[in-house]
Amino acid sequence: MHKQLAISLDTPFKQEVYEGLTSYPKFLSSKYIYDEAGDKLFQNIMDMPEYYLTNTEYDILEQNKTDLAQIFGCGKKPFHLIEMGAGDGKKTKILLRHFTEQNLEFIFRPIDISQNALNQLQNNLKTEIPQLRTEPLQGTYFETLQKLNLSTDERKIILFLGSNIGNLCHEEAVEFLSQIQEYMQPEDLLFIGFDQKKNPETILNAYNDETGITAKFNKNLLVRINKELDANFNVDEFKHWEVYDPETGTAKSYLVAKSPQEVFLQALDLHVSFKAWETIHTEISQKYDDNTVQWLAEQSNLTIVDEFCDQKKYYKNYLLKKS
Ligand SMILES: C[S@@+](CC[C@H](N)C(=O)[O-])C[C@H]1O[C@@H](n2cnc3c(N)ncnc32)[C@H](O)[C@@H]1O
Repeated sequence: MHKQLAISLDTPFKQEVYEGLTSYPKFLSSKYIYDEAGDKLFQNIMDMPEYYLTNTEYDILEQNKTDLAQIFGCGKKPFHLIEMGAGDGKKTKILLRHFTEQNLEFIFRPIDISQNALNQLQNNLKTEIPQLRTEPLQGTYFETLQKLNLSTDERKIILFLGSNIGNLCHEEAVEFLSQIQEYMQPEDLLFIGFDQKKNPETILNAYNDETGITAKFNKNLLVRINKELDANFNVDEFKHWEVYDPETGTAKSYLVAKSPQEVFLQALDLHVSFKAWETIHTEISQKYDDNTVQWLAEQSNLTIVDEFCDQKKYYKNYLLKKS
């Protein structure tokens, strides 16, 4: 029960911010980082040399696009190419261009929580691949699948790139994969990027750049709360802190209060106190090995049918179907 009954928590954003900032320890969901500023900051992250994920997956797609056209096209049968959390489609465009050149018959259906990301992607695709049919859908992973409203005889290829799955803890990942599995028909395929366990230093550096882009990215949560919920976070009084546990494979991002402080969120009529060095957990970026991916697949009634890897074995894309 929320004690401030006078205030209506009428959006998921308000509800989740309220829950996260009144819990102990405090937390906020990374999905709310992505507004116009957050989308731009993530593009800056993808350009950082430390953020190896983008280039490795880019190379995997570039090197395997011919095979993927055959597998997804399955004898030139039409299909819906659904991408969860598409972002700016930087890597997906490799496939979109190639599939279009190969005259595959498909509709691209990017899904993202950020309307800004979808608008930009659609505009770019109109000029870059004008013959492509694109039907974007705004919403969260969990709310959008049913809204696509596809009939059972329309083939679906579902993409989940960028190791976005790593933003879900294992329990949420199983719930999400199970939902996708229920939505799939035997002919449908799921193609997912899983960032692999590797030298912990390489992983930590990817989320802890010296120029502070990742810090700004995480702090965009507070900037957004200030803007949209009339709050007064002093963003400079929070320090971005990253940890990586090589045993569990979990990288965790925090914003840590550098001093005791009081914050007021007018739209929620909520006062929040921070003790010095108190944390807000903002994101997880899970790293995987084959055993873990196999376990996730089994738990979700999915079967791994193929996998694609880069030379350094930093990153893998797995192809899954319904068991
Ligand atoms: C880390 S970026 C990756 C973008 C793209 N998949 C790539 O590999 O470059 C994550 C994207 O997923 C979107 N996103 C994050 N959480 C989401 C959620 N729960 N539901 C829908 N979209 C989400 C964000 O808006 C963002 O565009």
